[in-house]
This record gives sequence, C-alpha cells and structure tokens, in this order.
Amino acid sequence: MTESRKAATAARMYDYYLGGSHNFPADREAADYVIERYPFIPEAARANRAFVVNAVRHLSESGIRQFLDIGSGIPTVDNVHAIARQIHPETRVAYVDIDPVAVAESLDILDGDDLAVAVRGDVQQPQAVLDHPEVRRLLDFGRPIGVILAAVLHFVPEHRAAEEAVGTLVGSVVPGSRFIMSHSATESFELFTAAEDVYQRRTSTPGTVRTRAEVERLFTGLELLEPGVVWAQEWRPGVAVEKVESPRLGGIWAGVGSKP
Ligand SMILES: C[S@@+](CC[C@H](N)C(=O)[O-])C[C@H]1O[C@@H](n2cnc3c(N)ncnc32)[C@H](O)[C@@H]1O
Repeated sequence: MTESRKAATAARMYDYYLGGSHNFPADREAADYVIERYPFIPEAARANRAFVVNAVRHLSESGIRQFLDIGSGIPTVDNVHAIARQIHPETRVAYVDIDPVAVAESLDILDGDDLAVAVRGDVQQPQAVLDHPEVRRLLDFGRPIGVILAAVLHFVPEHRAAEEAVGTLVGSVVPGSRFIMSHSATESFELFTAAEDVYQRRTSTPGTVRTRAEVERLFTGLELLEPGVVWAQEWRPGVAVEKVESPRLGGIWAGVGSKP
C-alpha cells in the first residue's frame, strides 16, 4: 500500500461526499472507489447531515444549551454551533475528532469563539474525552448535554466497544441529557456486493455496518424519542432531503435518546 493511498481519511472522504472542498486527491480517489460500489453514499451523507441538523434543532428547542459532538468531522455548512445558536445564541459546543486535520479545520472556523472548542479525541476512549481540560472548561456536566455521535460509531467495529463507549458517556451526563446517534445500515449495504472495506485498506479508521436492532442496542440506558431508530430521512424531517427511491437506500439508521 502506498503512503498516498493510506493518507485518505474518513473525515475528508465524507466532506467530498457532501460536496465540500476540504479533501485531497487520495481522499477523492478512495471516495470515488466507494461510490462506484455503493452509489447511494453521497445521498446517505446528505441524509445523515440533514438528520444531524434536524436533531440539533430539536434539542435546542427542548432547552439544550451545550453539546459534545464526538466524530464531528470537517465543518462544512450547517455546523452544530451555528444551528443551535439560531435558537440559543449562547450555546456551547465541544467538537471532538480523531483526525488532526478535522480538528485543525474546526479550530480555524472557530477562531475567536469563546463558547466552542475543537480537540482531538477517540470515541473509543470516552473517559479521556470527558476528562479533556478544554471539554471540562467549556461544558457544565451538572446540566444536560446534547451528545452527538453521528456517523462515527461505524468506525468502532467491535459491538461491545461501541456499546461500552456509549455507556460511559450515558453514565457521565445528568438526566435530561440527550444523545443523537446515526449509523450506517447493514440492511442497505447488503444490497451491494463490494467485498472489501475501503476504509480498512486506505484510511486509519476501518468501517463497519450495523442492523437496526444493533443500533437500537446502542441506546441502552436511554429512552428513545419518537419515532425511534428509523432511516435518517424519516426522523422528524425538517431540513429537506431529496426523495429516495427507497429509504433503505438512504443507508443510515438514526435516532435520539434521552437520559431518564
Ligand atoms: C462520516 S464523518 C461524520 C461527521 C459528522 N459527525 C456528521 O455526522 O456529519 C465521521 C467522523 O468520525 C471521525 N472518527 C472516526 N473514527 C473516530 C474515533 N474513533 N473517534 C473520534 N472520531 C472518529 C472521522 O475522522 C470523521 O470526521
């Protein structure tokens, strides 16, 4: 494997699917390879992002004024802080990503913003994320937090590790906190026959897919808000996403849970 191939990252490939400009030739090449095998991927990315926007808006309307966004990616349009501050201008947001480029881009965008930070962290080490001094400084763990785990847990292949990571986060926030989660769907990817994991070969974050039941299990310890875990396009649609032939081709399970 050449270095340029390995240099692709999930964050920049996602940016490319969304039509962003924060990506390099290695990312585009790897992303095109994925699109050839799973043509619905750019649409899945857009549906996922629209879900995040709708869910963040819902949380803000419910009174949440601070967010912990893990696997936040490269900020393109509709950043979490921008959406939430349309409702509560003082909303605080801690962005966390494993990719140093995503963190650097986020810091650029947040320049001079006292109510938002971007730090490097791994969702598989949630305690380190929770203990990060910047995260502690910004967020008040004595008040409800909106935790966003959007399109990131599919980079944690081990079910148990993913469930434990969510469990640690659930255990560390107060009742009334909410979890926004989305995840690539086994039910969509099995329609296609790609035999390899491009993320495994070309990036440092191997990918996986989960069934609806497996995604529902990630909400253990939380009360799922209506309509439960559904296709991303179907979760209280607000931001318009293009109609798909079949929601199954949306490729993303999505849901929001509340800590009782
Ligand atoms: C598909 S993007 C999702 C971005 C954003 N959350 C959204 O839904 O629009 C996935 C992001 O997860 C990040 N990521 C992958 N593995 C991670 C890990 N173990 N810990 C934290 N971030 C991770 C990638 O770098 C990438 O930025």
